[in-house]
Parts: sequence; structure tokens; C-alpha cells
Amino acid sequence: MKMNDHVLIFDTTLRDGEQSPGASMNTAEKLRIATQLEKLGVNILEAGFPAASDGDLEAVSRIAGKLGKTEVAALARTSKNDIDRAWEAIRHAVKPRIHTFIATSDIHLEYKLKMSRDEVVKAAVDAVKYARTLTDNVEFSAEDGSRSDRDFLCTVFEAVIAAGATTVNLPDTVGYALPQEFSDLVSYVNTHTPNIDKAVLSVHCHNDLGLATANTLSAITAGARQAEVTINGIGERAGNTSLEEVVMSLVTRNNSLGLSTSIQTEYIHPTSRLVSMITGIMVQPNKAVVGANAFAHEAGIHQDGVLKNPMTYEIMKPETIGLSTNRLVLGKHSGRHALRSRLKTMGYDLSAEEINLVFTRFKELADKKKHVVDEDLEVIVTEGILRTADIFKLEYLHVTAGTTVLPMASVKLDVNGRPMQGAGYGNGPIDAAFNAIGKLTGTASELLRFSVSALTGGTDAQGEVTVRLRENGLLALGRGADPDIITASAKAYVNGLNRLEYLKTHPVKESIVL
Ligand code: KIV
Ligand code: ZN
Repeated sequence: MKMNDHVLIFDTTLRDGEQSPGASMNTAEKLRIATQLEKLGVNILEAGFPAASDGDLEAVSRIAGKLGKTEVAALARTSKNDIDRAWEAIRHAVKPRIHTFIATSDIHLEYKLKMSRDEVVKAAVDAVKYARTLTDNVEFSAEDGSRSDRDFLCTVFEAVIAAGATTVNLPDTVGYALPQEFSDLVSYVNTHTPNIDKAVLSVHCHNDLGLATANTLSAITAGARQAEVTINGIGERAGNTSLEEVVMSLVTRNNSLGLSTSIQTEYIHPTSRLVSMITGIMVQPNKAVVGANAFAHEAGIHQDGVLKNPMTYEIMKPETIGLSTNRLVLGKHSGRHALRSRLKTMGYDLSAEEINLVFTRFKELADKKKHVVDEDLEVIVTEGILRTADIFKLEYLHVTAGTTVLPMASVKLDVNGRPMQGAGYGNGPIDAAFNAIGKLTGTASELLRFSVSALTGGTDAQGEVTVRLRENGLLALGRGADPDIITASAKAYVNGLNRLEYLKTHPVKESIVL
């Protein structure tokens, strides 16, 4: 067992995180997130599953070519074809890692794989041996490890380490484990796998019972030295272990745990926002560490205490995760230099051209709103810079509504460079705007969910709208923000329609989604 006090952070936001319903991202969006994750300081970034689709392969390969210091991992089942595709995608990375996996639990063997234990060991060993002919950095995962027979798990780990695996990963694939049980399992693996000292022992937890962070931390205290995590805990079903919870637990409770990571914690909040803006998956307000209310003190007695000494009720400082306490950042007369420096602190390194674009939009917003705060800037950056290749663009929206008129909306869209205008009626102004946009785009999507929230306090706050759309079995989320919630809604709808269009040309192969 390799025991030191450093925990490797393996981020799988772009692979397991992308398996969140409706979270599919395009290549440019994935590159943005990958660049941000490198700044954040993750050690290994799992960029995707290249066998799933050509789009995945291309995105992984672009990320591999871009990152300068982070290990880039690609997922592969144990087949030669999957491993070849993974290698093709990451071979140009500074530090490539092939991550191959097969299930080890009896229930998966009997019903899913229809393989015997011996056959599984052979498939795992052959895959690792083959991957080792391509790179000396090979990770093996025992899918459904937490529900596998412990001795069989150790047999598999021993065999793959002998075959050359440099990391062995123990996933709680279905989020079934309990913290004590999981730490016992990690200890058992550590003491019953004779060659475990030749590999890094990793864990990968899912959050079906809300225990992913607790299980990951108990595994770490039992000797695991790699944690597989995602930003905001996004991922398959109830999600994965959240990076920010594990890292901030290690930082905040260093007195008890004595373990470090290489994460630059001041990038946690900007990275969380970036992932949320790009995926359209909102962070629940009471989410640990990165939720909007994580540092908001409501009760008078708490506010009083915090004013006297923040440590009375705050166990972490907001600035440690990059959340400025001075949130009033810029006004109408602020200059380009102040804007650039604020964006840099927030984790956005933009080109001169991008800064110009943000500056123009910032001035427009500052005309409508007294103070432009971090969240507003994030919206400008993510809407103006990070969204790419949209087919539909909202050019103009005018609504009439009130207590005595039939709500009506007239809309102008740019559809693939062609201006189009139209009007629609509805039950209310948002319904009218959606009807007009639906007619103009000729799309037949169904609106499954509509939610609106205020990004910041005050009546001049930006409204943030999320919609969930379905068309021909494809699901997409759309998001928009604006001081006017009708405009924010229209932006969200148009964004959702663009995402649906993207999915039509980049289908996710359902059969191959893990
Ligand atoms: O949850 C899981 O088991 C996985 C593996 C592929 C690591 O995501
Ligand atoms: Zn997983």
C-alpha cells in the first residue's frame, strides 16, 4: 500500500458528469471546462469515452492536445477496439492515461456480462496488458466493486497490477455502500492484495443515498489515495462525489485528516459556475460549499455572531473558494482594466478580442443595472464567449401583456444567418414568446420543465431561467439570464433549442452510455 499524505484528484466531470441527463456538451464547451479544471489543479482529467461516438473521440483528442500539465484519461471497456479508440484520442497528451474497466460483482457477471469470474479476470488482464503496450499509465476499474465478493475483488486487483495497472479503482457504482462498510472494504483490499503497493488505490462513488462524499472520505482515511469526483457532483443518476466537498473537507479538517491535494481552492467557485452555466444544471441553493446559500446567514443571531467574528458560524472563508465577499464589483464607469482584472480573479483568462466583447455587453448591462456583480459577469462570459455555433440567435423580443390584453410577443431570430420575424399569442407573455419562437424555428419540442430564479438579491437582479426540452426522445436543457425575466425565458428557450439541434447531429449512443 502506497501511503503518503497527498490525495490525487481525478476529475470525471467531462465523462461521468456528462452522463447526467441533458448535460451533453459540445467540444468547445468541453475545452473550456478542461482548461478551467487544469487551472483548478486536478491531477487527472477524464475527458470522455472515445468508443461512445466520433464526437467523444474528437473532444477527448482536442483536450489531450490542449492541456499542458494535467494527465488526460480516456475510458475504455476491455475490448481491443475500445482501448484503441481511447489511445487514438489521448496519445498526444503530455501525460496520457488509459482507463479500462469491467464489472466484478456476481449480479453484473450473471445478468449483464454473462461471464464467469475466470473469464472476467482474463478480460481484465488482457485489457491491461494490451493498454500497457501503448502507455505505462493504465488504470483499471472494477465496476460495481462495492457489491463484489471481497476476495474476488482482491484477486482481480492482484492480477491487473501484475499485468501492469498503475492505478486500481474501486467504484461504488450504484451508490449502495455505507461509510464504515466502504472504509472496511478499502482496508480489506489494502491488506489482502499482495502487490497493492505497486499501484495507487482509487475510489469512485455515486450519490444515490447522498453518501458519496462520506464514502470517499472514509475510503481516503482507510488508505485510498485517489478520489474520482466531478464538479458540483454532477453525474449518472444522483451524481458522483463532488470535488468541492471532498477538497474542502480535506482543507477545513486538515487538523484531523492531515491530507493535502493540489487543488487551487480559489478556483472552486468560478469552476462550479462555469460547469453549471455550460451544462445548464443548476446548483441547488443549499448545496455544500458552492450553493448560493452556502455562506448566507439568515438568522439574526447568526448574523450578529458573524459580524463580531466570522468564525462563530463560518467554518470556511468564502474567499478560500474564490467567492469574493466584496461582491459589488463594477459600476457603469468602471474601465476595461478593472473588468479584465476582475475576470482574471474569477478564473477567466480571455483574449483581447473576448475582453472587448465582454466589455461592450458589460456596459450595456451597467446601463440597465446599477452594480454589475460576479454572477452578472459570469452570465456575460458564458453566454457571450462560451456558447458557440448556435443555429438560432435571439435578435429582438417585444411583448405586450397586462390585466386587460391578450398577451402577445413579436420575435426576430437569426436562423443560420437568415433574419426571421414572427409573432405569437399565449396564456401569458412567456407562453406567447415561446409560441412565437417555436413557430419561427419550426421545432416541435415539448417543454418539460421551466424554472426561474434570481441570480442575486434586489429588484434589479438578473433573472435566471432554466428550461428542459424534449424532442423525438432527445432531452436538452437551456439556460438564459437577463434583468427582464421574459427575455431571460426567451434566451433559455432558444438556448435549449440550440442544444437540441446539437444533439441531433451529435447523438449520444444510449446503448453505450454506462
Ligand atoms: O461508476 C462506475 O463504476 C464508473 C466506472 C466506469 C469507473 O463510472
Ligand atoms: Zn461512475
